[in-house]
Amino acid sequence: MAAGGMAVSIENRRGAKPAAGEIVVEAADLVKRFGDRVVLDRVSLAVRRGETLVVMGGSGCGKSTLLRCLIGVYRPDGGDVRLFGKSLPAMDDVELAAVRKRIGVLFQSGALYSSLSVGENIALPLREHTDLDPAIIEVLVKMKLELVGLREAENLMPAECSGGMAKRLGLARAIALDPELLFYDEPTAGLDPIMSGIIDGLIMDLAATMNATSIVVTHDLRTAFRVADRMAVMKDGMLVAVGTPSEIRASDDPFVRRFVLGRTERVSRMFGARDAEV
Ligand SMILES: Nc1ncnc2c1ncn2[C@@H]1O[C@H](COP(=O)(O)OP(=O)(O)O)[C@@H](O)[C@H]1O
Ligand SMILES: [Mg+2]
Repeated sequence: MAAGGMAVSIENRRGAKPAAGEIVVEAADLVKRFGDRVVLDRVSLAVRRGETLVVMGGSGCGKSTLLRCLIGVYRPDGGDVRLFGKSLPAMDDVELAAVRKRIGVLFQSGALYSSLSVGENIALPLREHTDLDPAIIEVLVKMKLELVGLREAENLMPAECSGGMAKRLGLARAIALDPELLFYDEPTAGLDPIMSGIIDGLIMDLAATMNATSIVVTHDLRTAFRVADRMAVMKDGMLVAVGTPSEIRASDDPFVRRFVLGRTERVSRMFGARDAEV
């Protein structure tokens, strides 16, 4: 079992879920090039309603590019992306706008408006995309802040927020419109282990309370193994393994073994754990 002390014990507190439910996100032989460079090489995956898929891999392997293709920021050069059963590249602007309302994205940068207070940052999507009464929006903003544990920060400016608070604020804004589908790009990058654990907990809680489907892109193994129902390991723009956390742990693939085991050993050494398991 995992060593005590610092929680490198990469435990997954979600129960196994039946692989039922409709497919919400699907990539089929997705190809993305930048110039001559193939950054996504025939990526295929499917995520079902309520499921959390983690895409992990080293820096530069194409994770953020995949995420951007899946939300329609980048147009694929080959293959297809289907959201809620509809082909994303085939959508017109009206359809795309409608689909985007059902999606929440936590970008790596946080992408917050520095001139707006915390509360105003969260109210913005509600003002733009709904015709709710301002008094209702005010209540919803407080609810979203409560959900991410930032109730007391409503009147702060983003510059007054710590890194962990900024992530949670980005998350509160991502869920402002109660999305069915949530995307996270490196949600714990740059955070200390305690704040990372809090963010991991929020990702799981949001998935459970909103029954949201989640795709988490990360190079952080602890986050990956905590939140995943299934995981995909990416290398040089290709998915080299897809499976449950225990299937990934047991993978024979040399790259997967090196990535998952090698990195975790380094993490264990860093935190002084003797026999952390993955
Ligand atoms: N807009 C772009 N134009 C050209 N090259 C890009 C662009 N975005 C990403 N890349 C390249 O594609 C590769 C994958 O990038 P990225 O998806 O950001 O990787 P990851 O998120 O896994 O770190 C990198 O080599 C990166 O330099
Ligand atoms: Mg990235």
